[in-house]
Amino acid sequence: MGLVIALNKGRILKECLPLLAQCDVVPEEDVYESRRLIFKTKACDHTLIICRSADVLTYVENGVADVGVTGKDTILEHGGSMGFYELLDLGIGKCRMMTAGPVGVPEPDGVLRVATKFVNISRDYYRRQSRQVSLIKLSGAMEIAPVLGLADTIVDIVDTGNTLKANGLEARETICDITTRLIANRASMKTQFDAIRQFSGQLRTVV
Ligand code: PRP
Repeated sequence: MGLVIALNKGRILKECLPLLAQCDVVPEEDVYESRRLIFKTKACDHTLIICRSADVLTYVENGVADVGVTGKDTILEHGGSMGFYELLDLGIGKCRMMTAGPVGVPEPDGVLRVATKFVNISRDYYRRQSRQVSLIKLSGAMEIAPVLGLADTIVDIVDTGNTLKANGLEARETICDITTRLIANRASMKTQFDAIRQFSGQLRTVV
């Protein structure tokens, strides 16, 4: 039986589609041309769902998708789950979770105001540092928070560092390295065992 595969849209998708193609999993339509979000595949009976990173976890956890491809940042932020297994590091989407602040401006001594989309990762990191922080949840564009005086520091993913640089920020500490992972729904690991084993085996040979 074919698998339902949830994919993270955005920059992971660009690196992920060529890997899937090497496993003969190719969407019937050009995913960038189409407004469709569910795609049948050409040579196999898998179905692709394209959605936001956190929603990949939701679809997989709820068994709507059997497997999913998303960043370790999303998995860490989500925290422990009984709903899915992490099967494979795809080695794509490499970046780092980092703290960053305005160039040349030292962090204040008191409570640090931290703007981030990754509040759980940040809370855990600063707790381990025994640093008292006030977390400010944003949905994106964290880089402007220190510029506008909303926060002293941000916690965000850094790839090339261009976004930090363009906004007058500098990277400070690395919290963890991030790559893209293949995850699988727990129940699907039983009901779709052969199909998942075959798919993850194919991916393993191409990564
Ligand atoms: C991420 C991140 C930074 C940027 C870093 O955002 O939040 O803004 O990439 O990349 P760089 O170091 O190469 O400049 P993304 O473009 O993925 O969009 P998002 O805000 O929706 O996560």
